[in-house]
Order: sequence, then C-alpha cells, then structure tokens
Amino acid sequence: MARLASTLEDRPLPAADDVEVLAVLPRASDLVVVATDDSGNPLGVAWCHFHDPPLVLDEHGEPLPELVLAVTESARGEGVGSALIEAIASETAERSSTLTLNVHLRNPSVRLYMRSGFWVAGKGRGIFGVAMSRSLRDQ
Ligand SMILES: CC(C)(COP(=O)(O)OP(=O)(O)OC[C@H]1O[C@@H](n2cnc3c(N)ncnc32)[C@H](O)[C@@H]1OP(=O)(O)O)[C@@H](O)C(=O)NCCC(=O)NCCS
Repeated sequence: MARLASTLEDRPLPAADDVEVLAVLPRASDLVVVATDDSGNPLGVAWCHFHDPPLVLDEHGEPLPELVLAVTESARGEGVGSALIEAIASETAERSSTLTLNVHLRNPSVRLYMRSGFWVAGKGRGIFGVAMSRSLRDQ
C-alpha cells in the first residue's frame, strides 16, 4: 500500500525499498485505519504519519501529521478513499488541529482532497509535490 501511495496510476510501482516508499511507511506509533470488505479482505488503508523532514509546521514550529492513503485498484471510485480520510480525520482531531498531505500536482486524487476539505498549503516534496492541509477543529 505504501508503494501504491507513492506513485501515479499510470506509472510503474516503485520498488519496496525505494526511499520515498520507506519514508512513508507507518511506524508503530502511527494511527492506521484499514478498510475491509465483508470477508475481511483489505480494500484500502490510510495512516497518519510524521515524515522526516516534516511537510508543514504549525504556528509553534511543530510538525503536523501527514495523511498517507491508498485503495486497491478494484475498489476505487466507490467512496473507500473518502471514508478512510474521514476516519483518520476523526481520530486525529484528538491529537492535532490540522491534517496535512503531500500530493503530486497531476494526481487526480487532488479532487478528492479538495472535496474532503483540504486546501493548498504550499509547496510539497519534489518538483511536482503540493502540500495540502485540512483543519480538524470542527470534527
Ligand atoms: C486516491 C485513492 C486513494 C482514492 O480512493 P477511492 O476509494 O477511489 O476514492 P473515492 O471513491 O472516495 O473518491 C474518488 C476520487 O479519487 C480520485 N481518483 C480517481 N481516479 C484516480 C486515480 N487514478 N489516481 C488517484 N486518484 C484518483 C478522484 O479525486 C476521484 O474523485 P472524482 O470522482 O471527483 O473523480 C485511490 O485512487 C488510490 O489509491 N490511488 C492510487 C494511490 C494514490 O494516488 N494515492 C494518493 C497519493 S497522495
């Protein structure tokens, strides 16, 4: 799933030991939400991560948590990604005022993020990276 979350759909999956994939892997302390079908098979996963270096800092200079999200190809377009975002936002609201993410500017998921309350917060990682933020104050 970290490999899926680190690429665009029309590009080959990066290797499991690619630096970008390793950088977003969830740690033991990260909040992870898994969506499953009725038989318990995983459909998608989202986690809340503290990337090093951080993407966006809060007003005190502290790193803000970052969303990482991927849904298996056969389950896409049915609201799983949207539901995972809401689950992570709801759980993260107890620990942070803001949820952030990094997205390639050509990634169609930008539409999903805008619809889910994220706005463009500045430059993200790499040449094409965009940082987005969502307030969690009204969760
Ligand atoms: C992004 C992703 C998690 C969305 O999951 P989903 O279950 O399909 O999401 P939903 O059904 O709730 O919403 C559909 C939205 O996904 C986005 N989307 C559609 N095709 C997509 C694609 N090929 N790649 C990425 N996002 C896509 C669009 O914003 C779409 O909204 P639209 O109906 O306005 O076009 C899923 O497409 C995915 O895993 N893509 C590959 C990995 C990825 O791009 N992760 C995000 C990295 S920042």
